[in-house]
Amino acid sequence: MTRKKPKKSKARERIKAKKAVPSAPKEGAKRELNISAIDEGTVIDHIPTDAAFKVVEILDLENHKGVVSIATNLQSKSIGRKGIVKVGGKSLTQNEVNKIAIVAPDATVNIIKNYDVREKIKVKTPDVIDNVVKCSNPVCITNNEQVATKFYVVKKDPLKIKCHYCERSMGKDDIEII
Ligand code: CTP
Ligand code: ZN
Repeated sequence: MTRKKPKKSKARERIKAKKAVPSAPKEGAKRELNISAIDEGTVIDHIPTDAAFKVVEILDLENHKGVVSIATNLQSKSIGRKGIVKVGGKSLTQNEVNKIAIVAPDATVNIIKNYDVREKIKVKTPDVIDNVVKCSNPVCITNNEQVATKFYVVKKDPLKIKCHYCERSMGKDDIEII
């Protein structure tokens, strides 16, 4: 279990900095980017690196009052480069998890309580996407009248969806979240 260390005073930090003897990194030393662990909240991991900000948008994190950490271009054994989004003090609704699956089909949603990973949810791309994605066809009824969008998932990875109303096919790069 990771525990937050008590905050050191600025003065102590300065003393420590003076004492520190610079040394070359040891050969084979593990160099990795660390983002602080969170005490309570949700960590969305294994996001394709270019979808990290879409996850931020889906969860409306711009307006979230707790801690939000976003990292992109991290090394991942399973998906090449990955993004990660950590949100303090927030649990996700099923609807939010389903929306994440649309832009990040391999994402893992980790529920953190008291610094522990209490639950690990593998997202699942739905077969039908209701009222989440905007149709890219300007003459589609959903762009001209008060009609909720609806798409059928034709292929999950890479995502290919088809509009229920105008039959427009869209790929993952065309996807704009409502
Ligand atoms: N994490 C965090 N704060 C915590 C605990 C975990 O931010 N208090 C983050 C970790 O940094 C990691 C993710 O939550 O990105 C999942 O944690 P964990 O299951 O311990 O990591 P892995 O075993 O690497 O996960 P996976 O097997 O899903 O890759
Ligand atoms: Zn349409």
